Amino acid sequence: MNAPLEIEHADTPALDPAQLRAVFGQFATGVTVVTTLTEHGRRVGLTANSFSSLSLDPPLVLWSLRKAAPSCLDFQHAGRFAINILAHDQIALSRHFATPAEDKFDGVPCTHSTLTRVPCLEGTSARLVCRNVGQYEGGDHLIFIGQIEHFDVFGKAPLVFHGGQYRALIEHPALSPA
Ligand SMILES: Cc1cc2nc3c(=O)[nH]c(=O)nc-3n(C[C@H](O)[C@H](O)[C@H](O)COP(=O)(O)O)c2cc1C
Repeated sequence: MNAPLEIEHADTPALDPAQLRAVFGQFATGVTVVTTLTEHGRRVGLTANSFSSLSLDPPLVLWSLRKAAPSCLDFQHAGRFAINILAHDQIALSRHFATPAEDKFDGVPCTHSTLTRVPCLEGTSARLVCRNVGQYEGGDHLIFIGQIEHFDVFGKAPLVFHGGQYRALIEHPALSPA
């Protein structure tokens, strides 16, 4: 594991964390569960909406993890991780993987990527299995860069997160046929 690269940042006036959280929440996202298998064979996963596509060539994605999260060291050492993009009917799974627990996978239907053995959740909209190719400092978070090795798309409608609430997609009224 290489040390995370530092990002330079300037001093800013004190901003209220609660207001910052509220403004960040105005950006609607999907919901993912990022999973990995540790070198000791323990399955680790957490709910994350910081996922973003990054590059097509090479195929890269990114997500960020709070440095103080119990799973942070596991992901720093992980060779690979999977991004499980949750479907509209997986709110319970999102809440489950956002709650600290000894074994979050107990009773959760999973498959294991045959090549990599990374645990993958069932019933999702899509998944990407990635090699953990870079880590960057991002304030109180670490930014992880993944290079996509393979992916699956299952065609289920996604779960949406906005303003601290779970939501579902609807067709835009301006685009629906009259
Ligand atoms: C919708 C949603 C999105 C979240 N996104 C992130 C995220 O992008 N990064 C992060 O560090 N925590 C995020 N969290 C919080 C983590 O899921 C939570 O802190 C979890 O307990 C961390 O796993 P761990 O305790 O096993 O380390 C999110 C929680 C929810 C409900």
